[in-house]
Formats: sequence, C-alpha cells, structure tokens
Amino acid sequence: DTGNVVFDPGFVNTANARSAITYIDGANGILRYRGYPIEELAEKSNFVEVAYLLIYGELPTPEQYQDFEHRITTHTMVHEDLKMFFNGFPRSAHPMPVLSSAVSALSTFYADSLDPHDPQQVEISTIRLLAKVPTLAAYAYKKSVGEPMLYPHNELNYSENFLRMCFGVPAANYEVDPDMAKALDILLMLHADHEQNCSTSTVRLVGSSEANIFASVSAGVNALYGPLHGGANEAVLKMLGQIQNEGMDPDTFMEKVKNKEDGVKLMGFGHRVYKSYDPRAQIIKGYAHDILGKLGGNNEMLDIALKLEEKALADDYFVERKLYPNVDFYTGLIYKAMGFPERMFTVLFAIGRLPGWIAQWREMIEDPETKIGRPRQLYVGEGERHYPQR
Ligand code: SDX
Repeated sequence: DTGNVVFDPGFVNTANARSAITYIDGANGILRYRGYPIEELAEKSNFVEVAYLLIYGELPTPEQYQDFEHRITTHTMVHEDLKMFFNGFPRSAHPMPVLSSAVSALSTFYADSLDPHDPQQVEISTIRLLAKVPTLAAYAYKKSVGEPMLYPHNELNYSENFLRMCFGVPAANYEVDPDMAKALDILLMLHADHEQNCSTSTVRLVGSSEANIFASVSAGVNALYGPLHGGANEAVLKMLGQIQNEGMDPDTFMEKVKNKEDGVKLMGFGHRVYKSYDPRAQIIKGYAHDILGKLGGNNEMLDIALKLEEKALADDYFVERKLYPNVDFYTGLIYKAMGFPERMFTVLFAIGRLPGWIAQWREMIEDPETKIGRPRQLYVGEGERHYPQR
C-alpha cells in the first residue's frame, strides 16, 4: 500500500510490467497520471502540461512549462522531403497507416539522434515527436481531402495549431474557435496515457529491443488502429449513424447485441480493466452536451447514445458482464461536431496517447526493471514425434 494505491497479492503476481506513470483501479473507476486524479487534470490543466507531467514525473514550474512549450512549438515543421512522402499514398488511404508510416520515416531524418541510451538524443526525439506528429496527422488529413498542406504557425498553441493545419486553407484566413480548441485539448488530455493498453504495450515491447523511439511509436500507432482498441471511436459513430439512418429503435439494436447477431457489439462499451464506468467517459459525457451545443453537433445521435447507455446500465446482460461506457463512447460525437471525418477519430486518439507512449518508452529504457521483457507461452501443441520412415 503506497499512498492509498492498493493491489491484492494475486494482481501483483499477474502484472506484466512495473510502472510509476499511470494508476488505474478498474473496479472503482479510478485513473491517475503520476498520482493526480484525471478529473482534476481535466478541469485545471492542459495537454502540454499533462504531457510534461507524464514524461518528467512532476508538474512543470511556469518557467519549465514555457521552455517545454517553446521547444515543441519551434519543432513543429517537418523536412520538405518528408512532405513529398505523402504524394506516394492514394487519396483514399486511411490516415492511420499514413501516420504510422510517416512517424517511422521521421527516424530516417534523424539518424544521428536515435540512441536510446543518450539522454540528449532521447530528449530531442521526445520534442520532435510531440511537435511533429500533429503536423504529420494534419498532412494525412489534407492528403485525404485533396487540400494543400499548411505550415504550422508558432503563435498558436498546440491544439489551435493542429486545428488550423487541418481546417485552414491558403485562400482564406482561419480563425481557430477557442471552444473547439479547448474541447480538443481536454480530449487529448483524457487520452494521454492508460497503463499497459494494447498500443502502449506494443511501444514498450518494440522499444525493449532498443529499436528507436520513432519505430516504437509507429508500432503503437498501428496497434491503436484496431477497432477493438483505438478504432472503437470510429466504430461507435458508424453504429450510431446506422441506428439513426435506418430509424432503428434502440431496443431493437440492443436485442441484436444481446443475441450477438452477426457478432454486433455495443461499440464504446466494455473494457479489459474498467469493470465500472470509465472515468474518462464520465468526464466526456459531462462536456458532450455543452460542446455539441456550442459546435452545433448532431444532438440526435447524442440522444441515441444516451438512450443506449441508459438501457445498457439497466439491463442484466450488460450489468452481469460489467459492461460500461469507455472513453470511445462519446468522443466520436465531439470530433464529428468539430468537423473531423470518422477516419480521423483514431488519429486524434494517437495524438492524445503520444505523451503516454513516450513516457512509458523512456521509463522502460531508463529502468530495465520496468521492461515487459520477452513474453513466454503455455505450449498446448503436439508432444515430441518423429518423421515417418518412407
Ligand atoms: C480502448 O486497455 C485500454 O486501456 C484501452 C483503452 C485505452 O485508453 O488505451 O481504454 C482504449 O481500447 C477502449 C476499448 C474500446 N473498444 C471497444 O469499445 C470495442 C467494444 N468492446 C469490446 O470489444 C470489449 O469490451 C473489450 C475488448 C474492450 C473488452 O472485452 P472484455 O469485456 O474484457 O472481455 P470479453 O471481450 O471477453 O467480453 C466478455 C463478455 C462477452 O460475452 P460472453 O461471451 O460472456 O457472452 O462481454 C461481451 C462479450 O461478448 N462484451 C460485449 C461487449 N464487450 C464485451 N458485448 C456487447 N458489446 C460490447 N461492447
């Protein structure tokens, strides 16, 4: 028991990794970044400050914050040759494989600073990733909509810069909506880290071979793409859209889920760890009405989502299986209200999760004790046998 962080003995024996970054109590819906409750950070902090907290372990002083933000801001441009990289993709390419390829390609421009055991090289790579991933993500979006890619603007903050690079065009001046930037900043904060989820474990496992941080993060982007992980926010919107477009009664849909018709799931529900309400979903739900009101979002879809949640929380099928809304249930509605197409939702998740991936990769490199190491398997195949005489 270290400061009301309590594990039962059985859990300690099953944990695959040791980490001091994020604490989750799945039974009670608790999430803390470096000991700070997510509810307090969502209310009082911002994404860049939370990134600093996750990576360096403490909240920054005003001077540390200013220096950190300045270093990120002045690294947001990418090499012109890397911009050409996007010409090779088909217009129809999903932005997630484009992003994972571009992140991996970043390492080819910084071959002299990839040593995981050189603190200065790790530091500059940390800044380059935090600074350039939103730019690359915006480029992936612009590629998919056939619009020119915009350079970052240093006078804008992290979320504003990304929104302008996505929605600005050279032909007109783009004023960032402060409500939209604030909403995005909160959503990025809520996604910033989440213990040993699929994509973070991927980043740590790839990094455990001393592959560079760009290769490790690129692998994490690919893991996040899966519909059972980061891709769920895109799947939720498709699910709500189908119910809305077909005029389906939510009860009818819930019966389909319970009967497992065609393997349909209530996307955005359930969690490997949270067997209670995901605290991030709770926070997002609280903002959803307000943000959708301000951004002119699809309130009919929100009403469908609220109805599905209300029904699920009162239905034994879901209660017995401890299925509650997770972080992906409401986020897509807000991203759509911001103007993002569904295929960008998981890219937004990746931008949010980036500081967690970096923090966990650095922790694993700095403290081998926290390495997941080489997983073993329980062999259930054939016993020894011999090649037949022929
Ligand atoms: C994320 O790990 C992380 O931290 C991930 C994440 C992060 O921040 O990184 O939190 C982000 O990935 C959130 C999860 C997003 N995925 C989805 O919303 C996809 C839908 N959810 C499911 O695929 C599922 O809930 C999982 C995979 C997320 C979790 O699975 P469980 O609940 O641990 O275990 P399970 O899949 O074995 O399900 C147990 C039972 C099964 O039914 P029975 O076989 O007992 O009859 O619950 C059912 C499942 O069929 N079930 C669901 C369901 N999720 C589980 N039934 C309907 N709808 C669902 N969403």
